[in-house]
Amino acid sequence: MTQDEAKLLVAKRAMEFISDGMRVGLGTGTTATPFIYELGEAVKAGLRIEAIATSEGSAKLAKELGIPLTTFDDTPVLDVVVDGADEIAPGLALIKGGHGAHLREKIVASASKQFIVVADESKVVHKLGKFPLPVEVIQFALPLVTLRLDDLGLNPVLRPSPGGAGPWITDEGNVILDCHCGEIQDPEKTAKEIRNIVGVVEHGLFLGMANLALIAGESGVRELRVGNVLQGPGGTGTSELR
Ligand code: 5RP
Repeated sequence: MTQDEAKLLVAKRAMEFISDGMRVGLGTGTTATPFIYELGEAVKAGLRIEAIATSEGSAKLAKELGIPLTTFDDTPVLDVVVDGADEIAPGLALIKGGHGAHLREKIVASASKQFIVVADESKVVHKLGKFPLPVEVIQFALPLVTLRLDDLGLNPVLRPSPGGAGPWITDEGNVILDCHCGEIQDPEKTAKEIRNIVGVVEHGLFLGMANLALIAGESGVRELRVGNVLQGPGGTGTSELR
């Protein structure tokens, strides 16, 4: 199965969790995007939902597909958000922010009754940290936050813009430091330490937020919930609980 096929498969499975009248959070990234397309098709076929997107890019796509968008003014509680992840560890601890949208993604997840992660097997890990941990930072504070993250041994690197000219600027006008920290032994502690730095807007550790991960692999889609034992990419580890 190609990665594109896996992403489509998991998007279709995620659609099984969507029903008429729901208020839906739309994720950002190459795994969340096929879900938005599937949702667009369902809306065309008569499904009535309202959505809030986690990025300008996903909002633009939703508009093009005719998905009705709402705001937190009118809709402060969402039923479900479907979003991707860069890494998924036991307890559904996540690293997110590979597409620089983790601030809005965390806001939308915090407003959602259910957070469904969509991914393929390559995202499942035993410990977080191989994927650089994104930290969104106020531009004014960048030199200070860089020093503080360095002091914590997190090896921050300023993310360049996709075109390479200048830094990556988020939808909120901030910059991103990607922390090449290696395996994160205690994610709660690391999250707290980063949060305590003045000038940090949000980091990409999503702890205790996701309820369900839909993981596409060769044998179809498996469901991971909090408390499951995750199986690593190499098939190591004990079998999961359902
Ligand atoms: C965006 C995210 C994405 O969900 C994450 O980067 C995964 O992206 P993809 O599905 O393209 O691998 O957190 O900020």
